[in-house]
Amino acid sequence: MRLEATGAKIIDFDYLSESSNAAAAQIYGEDIPLDVLIHCCLEVFPGSWEETTAEHMVNKLRVMTLGPFLATKYFLTSLKKCDPGEVININSFWASLAGNDFGEYISYQTAKAALNMEALTIAHKIKAKNLDITMLALDPGDIPTKLSRWAGNTNMEHSVTGMVKAIEEATIDLSGSYLP
Ligand SMILES: NC(=O)c1ccc[n+]([C@@H]2O[C@H](COP(=O)([O-])OP(=O)(O)OC[C@H]3O[C@@H](n4cnc5c(N)ncnc54)[C@H](OP(=O)(O)O)[C@@H]3O)[C@@H](O)[C@H]2O)c1
Repeated sequence: MRLEATGAKIIDFDYLSESSNAAAAQIYGEDIPLDVLIHCCLEVFPGSWEETTAEHMVNKLRVMTLGPFLATKYFLTSLKKCDPGEVININSFWASLAGNDFGEYISYQTAKAALNMEALTIAHKIKAKNLDITMLALDPGDIPTKLSRWAGNTNMEHSVTGMVKAIEEATIDLSGSYLP
């Protein structure tokens, strides 16, 4: 089913632009509560670190770290209006220092690891202000999508059901953490 068919309000904006994120938050409406903000975009290739260029490294950081940073910053006003609110980063065990035992996809792994640090840093500040907004990183599993070139051993429905459950059950004490 296409998103339009659900009746959802769709706002087009450039995730990587400060002014475009600010405009999107205005169009959404700063008085309108936002219960969940989900960041799921990515670019993954190339695999080999020796084929990875400066442009690959910077692009991944822009798409997977800067984009979530800007959207979280500009949608914070609407998130605060929900009690509780949540920011969900779809991440991966590939971002884990301990889990990295294969040395591939350096630009993806570096940007995803930076995303975890970004979320933890924001989580500390949000908690310090006693705001009930939980920052959470979720791993969808090994699912067949464009990213994995349609390979993967986790059933999509199982993955989505698990993530919805984690989102519905999340509480502020989990904020800043990664749930596999
Ligand atoms: N698939 C897996 O096995 C797996 C495993 C662990 C984690 N994950 C995580 O799951 C999340 C979703 O990935 P997926 O597997 O569903 O991959 P996907 O089908 O390739 O989806 C990636 C999405 O990112 C969007 N995107 C890429 N560059 C963008 C940009 N500059 N600005 C805005 N959006 C951009 C793409 O948009 P377009 O469609 O317009 O290109 C696409 O909708 C990612 O965060 C990924 O790291 C996936």
